[in-house]
Amino acid sequence: MRILIAGGKGQVGSDLAEVLRGGYEAVALGRDEFDISREAGLERVLDEVRPSCLINAAAFTRVDACETEREAAWRVNAEAPGFLGWACRGRGIPLLHLSTDYVFDGRKPPAEAYAEDDPTGPLSFYGESKLEGERQVLASGVESLILRTAWVYGIAGPNFLKAVLKRALAGQALKVVDDQWGAPTWSHRLARQIRRLIAEDVGGLFHAAAEGAATWYQVAREFFRLMKLDVALSPCKTSEYPTAARRPANSRLENRRLRAMGLCEMTDWREDLAEFVARFRERLIEEARAS
Ligand SMILES: NC(=O)c1ccc[n+]([C@@H]2O[C@H](COP(=O)([O-])OP(=O)(O)OC[C@H]3O[C@@H](n4cnc5c(N)ncnc54)[C@H](OP(=O)(O)O)[C@@H]3O)[C@@H](O)[C@H]2O)c1
Repeated sequence: MRILIAGGKGQVGSDLAEVLRGGYEAVALGRDEFDISREAGLERVLDEVRPSCLINAAAFTRVDACETEREAAWRVNAEAPGFLGWACRGRGIPLLHLSTDYVFDGRKPPAEAYAEDDPTGPLSFYGESKLEGERQVLASGVESLILRTAWVYGIAGPNFLKAVLKRALAGQALKVVDDQWGAPTWSHRLARQIRRLIAEDVGGLFHAAAEGAATWYQVAREFFRLMKLDVALSPCKTSEYPTAARRPANSRLENRRLRAMGLCEMTDWREDLAEFVARFRERLIEEARAS
């Protein structure tokens, strides 16, 4: 079975390529080879590769830049999933599309997580564009699996962990927001979850994020503990760290449907972070020093 991965050089895309290669023929293409926002070009790629399944891991993921580069963000996050949907539908190719926790407004108390059928209400243009991408996939009528994930990190980065590590190694004191709740999700874990869903031939809308809950400050603290680095770290409020895009105060996702179907591969965020650091500690430090 040949699986085509769009966004194959990103965090999730590159881990998917690695994970799927044990069992499938994975074709992971970066933006230069497979630009999902070019309708004509994408049909040509589908006809050349002739995949049994397409995974869309491509997106405009710079949340703050989405506020100012709206046209480009809308094209990639909202319109292109529709192009993919129509092109796949016409060829009988199922589409697995990735979406985000930022489709929610975050008003739930931090003790509660969002389930798949909770009402959406994005606060940012990124969230709005990704929500429209989900709608476009559904409107195309393609056989689809939409997977919402959250706070992704992976070795392919860039991501929050790499950013704080770089600043810490440069000797900067760090203030990290302590009033936004979520769960950092390792792209490699997500890739393993996706492999399972493909094997089980599942369709529909699912949440797939790390289990447990943390603030960004708690994530940073645990990361530096695992990295065995003594870093001057202090908590701050979102209001002290203004950004172009508004972010939900709570974007915890509950993997309710995966659990109900007995298909959940997601684990506690601390467990995955420990495995990530054990595997990549030296490489992360080297990269942070070189960048
Ligand atoms: N990162 C997160 O925290 C997070 C959280 C929740 C959900 N998600 C979702 O998870 C999915 C994977 O995210 P990720 O963390 O792997 O993101 P990522 O590392 O930013 O990877 C996305 C990839 O898509 C590529 N891309 C951008 N525009 C494209 C286009 N027009 N055609 C083809 N490729 C294009 C990017 O290439 P360039 O680098 O050249 O732009 C990048 O390699 C996305 O759907 C994202 O919305 C991510």
